[in-house]
Amino acid sequence: MKIRKNALAGIALAATATLGLAACGAGAATAPSSSAAAGGAVSGEITVYNAQHESLTKEWVDAFTAETGIKVTMRQGSDTEMSNQIIQEGQASPADVFLTENSPAMAQVENAGLFADVDKATVDQVPAEFRPSTNKWTGIAARSTVLVYDKAKLSEGQLPKSMLDLANPEWKGKWAASPSGADFQAIVASLLELKGEAATEAWLQGMKENFKAYKGNSTAMKAVNAGEVDAALIYHYYYYGDQAKTGENSKNVTPYYFKNQDPGAFVSVSGGGVLNSSKNAAAAQAFVKFITGKKGQEVLQKGTSFEYAIASGVPANEKLVPLAELQAPTVDPAKLNSAKVTELMTKAGLL
Ligand SMILES: [Fe+2]
Repeated sequence: MKIRKNALAGIALAATATLGLAACGAGAATAPSSSAAAGGAVSGEITVYNAQHESLTKEWVDAFTAETGIKVTMRQGSDTEMSNQIIQEGQASPADVFLTENSPAMAQVENAGLFADVDKATVDQVPAEFRPSTNKWTGIAARSTVLVYDKAKLSEGQLPKSMLDLANPEWKGKWAASPSGADFQAIVASLLELKGEAATEAWLQGMKENFKAYKGNSTAMKAVNAGEVDAALIYHYYYYGDQAKTGENSKNVTPYYFKNQDPGAFVSVSGGGVLNSSKNAAAAQAFVKFITGKKGQEVLQKGTSFEYAIASGVPANEKLVPLAELQAPTVDPAKLNSAKVTELMTKAGLL
């Protein structure tokens, strides 16, 4: 994933493409597709195995059903619960579409040979840096790693230059994370891809010494807010989501972005793909096309998920730091290895 140097160029291109379609009088959502997904050919029902946040996918589903009349049944689980279930069910899986929070579970299903190719019309509306080169699945949204910290306890000068510093002795007892979650494990998968196994093992050992475990990113952020720990390594949208509500779990918290291509500046790609066992592939492809299309991406821009829009030229929610400013490292989402991460984290006593 050639994140972010090319991100702006890609978004600009996608925007031009969308404008081009609109100028033809077709509009992006009804533009002809390369598959049977076009026009009135699509109908019926699909089942989505959803590991994305339920509220976000519900917004996509409602908008998709309103537009197409296709009924969508959602089954909810975590990234690896759902990927393991799909692999276990194989060709008999009732799933037509799989959506995740992070890339490793998508790579797992891809490696099991269970995804169909994503329709070209969908691929064309997602910049290359937000999808695997195989096009067996596509990015649908993105999220940034962030260190949320308590300003009363840490001055800017005391903040770590790199996520790797959190393994140093001066950070003992001072930071929180949710190691059992797919979000955190994606950060570790990126570290593994960027720095290799030995460096990842060493960092995880330091983490075990230094950090306090919480279940869930929200809980880790709450712990910072309540003064239990100085900082927490989470994803950005937990902070912005709380701020947009009452702010009661984040009023003492400030987000800090590592930038500088640091492993802690990792931007994780949420994935969407169509199972090759789908009994209604046209409708399944149409759904993935819809969520990466203008209307689907505007749900990210204007809704309450605070995840990044990445496709169809739709800009990020204006409250967020633009993706292009995050200086994320270049990571190929297809290479994130969840099995190795689980092994290393178990070995370090984190799982
Ligand atoms: Fe999450």
